[in-house]
Amino acid sequence: MCGIVGYIGGRTAYPILIKGLQRLEYRGYDSAGIALVNNTNVNTYKCRGKVKDLEKLIGTQDISGSIGIGHTRWATHGAPNDTNAHPHVSMNGKFVVVHNGIIENYTFIKNRLVEKGYTFKSQTDTEVLANFIEDIYLTSKCSAEEAVRSALLRIIGAYGLAIICTDEPDKLFGTRKGSPLVLGIGNGEHFLASDATPIVEYTDKMIYLNDEELVIATANEIRLTNIHESGDKQINVTKVDLSIDNIDKGNFPHYMLKEIHEQPLTIADTLRGRLLPDAHEIHLGGIADVMPRLMQAQRIIIIACGTSYYAGMVGEYLIEEYARVSVEVEYASEFRYRNPIITPNDVIIAISQSGETADTLAAIRMAKERGALILGVCNVVGSSIARETDAGIYTHAGPEIGVASTKAFTAQAVVMTLLALQLGRKKGVLSEERYKSFIDDLVNVPAAINRILADEDKIREIAEKYRSASNSIYLGRGLLYPVALEGALKLKEISYIHAEGYPAAEMKHGPIALIDNLMPVFVLATKDRYYEKVVNNIQEVKARQGQVIAVVTAGDTVIRKMADYVIEIPHTEDPFIPLLAVVPLQLFSYYVAVMRGCNVDQPRNLAKSVTVE
Ligand code: AGP
Repeated sequence: MCGIVGYIGGRTAYPILIKGLQRLEYRGYDSAGIALVNNTNVNTYKCRGKVKDLEKLIGTQDISGSIGIGHTRWATHGAPNDTNAHPHVSMNGKFVVVHNGIIENYTFIKNRLVEKGYTFKSQTDTEVLANFIEDIYLTSKCSAEEAVRSALLRIIGAYGLAIICTDEPDKLFGTRKGSPLVLGIGNGEHFLASDATPIVEYTDKMIYLNDEELVIATANEIRLTNIHESGDKQINVTKVDLSIDNIDKGNFPHYMLKEIHEQPLTIADTLRGRLLPDAHEIHLGGIADVMPRLMQAQRIIIIACGTSYYAGMVGEYLIEEYARVSVEVEYASEFRYRNPIITPNDVIIAISQSGETADTLAAIRMAKERGALILGVCNVVGSSIARETDAGIYTHAGPEIGVASTKAFTAQAVVMTLLALQLGRKKGVLSEERYKSFIDDLVNVPAAINRILADEDKIREIAEKYRSASNSIYLGRGLLYPVALEGALKLKEISYIHAEGYPAAEMKHGPIALIDNLMPVFVLATKDRYYEKVVNNIQEVKARQGQVIAVVTAGDTVIRKMADYVIEIPHTEDPFIPLLAVVPLQLFSYYVAVMRGCNVDQPRNLAKSVTVE
């Protein structure tokens, strides 16, 4: 996934584009570039590396121009290097393009263009598109808008595009299909970006483009049209409530640590207006209209990837336990290709922080075609998945910049918890008394997390002990099994230590062979119905000289005597234990990664949202 930005207005475009790319670096960061147009002169600067390397490259060169586009890349076609970095300029210099997505028929188009004498500098599909648009423009002697429209009607694939035509330097073109694009409406200026984060400091008025919409912006006007016809479309302006401090790191060294510490606030934000403690009610306005259909569901299928999949597993356990509805959790990438059985009695819940994960988006499109009700649990307002569902619940965790998901996970788990409890109550399988007791306890979760965060130094000390480990195992039972999986994912994706999550009872079926005195074993051993069984699992690990780090309920005196390290979390009702138990695992993986000198916010090979298959 890549980040694209564009500016047109009365100001110098350069600083706006550079700062915009810095805010989008979490989307991809193996190369970066910008193009600035000054009258008909185009200055393009691009290089392998991060935005700061691009700034170094530009140095004191010409940065004039009040229209420009920029790009930070996560390579899909062609290695990360200076030549393959965007923007790409067409052979005769008529079009400058930045692109987020994949053009699947680019080889066919490239061969036709080569036959017509076009030459190429890069291995990218994007340069093919730039030349394709130019060839149409020069051959048909049409307008830039028509050339863009005609080219896009003949490509297959996904795109978010910002385009400039040097014969029409007072216009900025933006369009999308499968990759997000937002237009910001300023006063005498307009902004394009892959999401709202580079734009919010200039305006809160946004247009979230739909697939195949085409926007043409001058400094003072915008036209919204479509690649299929040139007529103007109704413009829907969204007022976003993001602020800059939502985005900046504040006093934290990394976005990930900031976002871990934000969780008491973000969970309170997720609950706000939905958990009504005085009335002992849960209100999920986003799905109220479809609740009757949800009540009739024979089966709920949760579709997601990565951390969101583990949040889905938390939802599975809770919905089956408290609402007594059959639930399946599916990896989106597997679900979309295995020709699954889907009926109109099914309800699909897509969980996605970014709302742009290609596999999840494709999976819900397939399920929709087969008549299922599609709900979304997304964090990014106006994201593709959010807009393609029949209804949904936003997690309201604010922008999650760190590639490793933390606050989004707990927000997703809160939403699944609210859904399970409300559904259970409405179906009459959860008693009024337990429902009220759960609501009274859920209110206290943010304060409980604050108490865990206060223990941070102890967790950092434990991280110091295991910073050089090569492998690790995470064990949990019941609701804590998905948390074990999530803890293992956190560690491996930011510290590059190999880590596996297992159901604690599974260890005897193979993984116990791995246990030795070098192997840190995280055991989630809170006071729940599995407690005695998990104590046995700890003894099995200790009998083989394994190192045990146990997450326990505050006041536990039994496990303290057998584990090497104990991290206490406050007592809470069973459904909310995942919200607390995950926090020490987030902090542990963060500190191990920092001590290993890893790039915590932008781990190698990863991107914040995987908008390609
Ligand atoms: C989580 O730490 C990872 N960065 C990754 O697994 C992520 O959860 C996954 O790519 C799904 O992303 P989404 O929630 O935006 O769909």
